[in-house]
Amino acid sequence: MDFTKAVTKGKLLADQYSHVIDEVVKQYDERMGQDIVHGTRHWTNVFTNAYHIIENSPEVHNQLEEYLLGAFLFALFHDSKRKDEGLDLLHGYKGGAYFLEMVIKHNIEISPTIQTKIYRAITNHSTEIKSGISIISVCYDADRFDLFRVGKIPKIQYFSTPYCVNNFSNIIWNYKNKSSIETRVTDVFR
Ligand SMILES: [Fe+2]
Ligand SMILES: [Fe+2]
Repeated sequence: MDFTKAVTKGKLLADQYSHVIDEVVKQYDERMGQDIVHGTRHWTNVFTNAYHIIENSPEVHNQLEEYLLGAFLFALFHDSKRKDEGLDLLHGYKGGAYFLEMVIKHNIEISPTIQTKIYRAITNHSTEIKSGISIISVCYDADRFDLFRVGKIPKIQYFSTPYCVNNFSNIIWNYKNKSSIETRVTDVFR
């Protein structure tokens, strides 16, 4: 897996939304500190994973840019309201509310349909296994594939995008292959 294109797109979106990101990261750092398990390196991996899934899902390419922006905003907000590194059952709900607040405050241009779905994805990402909704599935699968960062191997029953389900062992093999992980050193949110 080559994440170069994903990182390039992530940096483009990060430039476009730098004022939003600065605010999100500041409040996160003040509460949690930097470079930890659920911080901006994880958010970057979630976006690049999502990019990879979307790139390999031709059935969503008629909404490509909407999906990429939705995945980017999911990555940015889904763990942004954590209060600790544990289960923190409420962080999804708080992250969802924060996402809506920031969409209004910063006038983020996103279609109402995608906004509603990304809100739901952020809110439910740690409590719901499968949503049956395509863009939410992309977000959930992208987050779950980053379990590798804590030494856990994801299990197929928690995945739902056709690309991930149909290519699960290949994707796992690629993630285990260090050379693919070494390309993932960039943090697009800092
Ligand atoms: Fe989370
Ligand atoms: Fe996460």
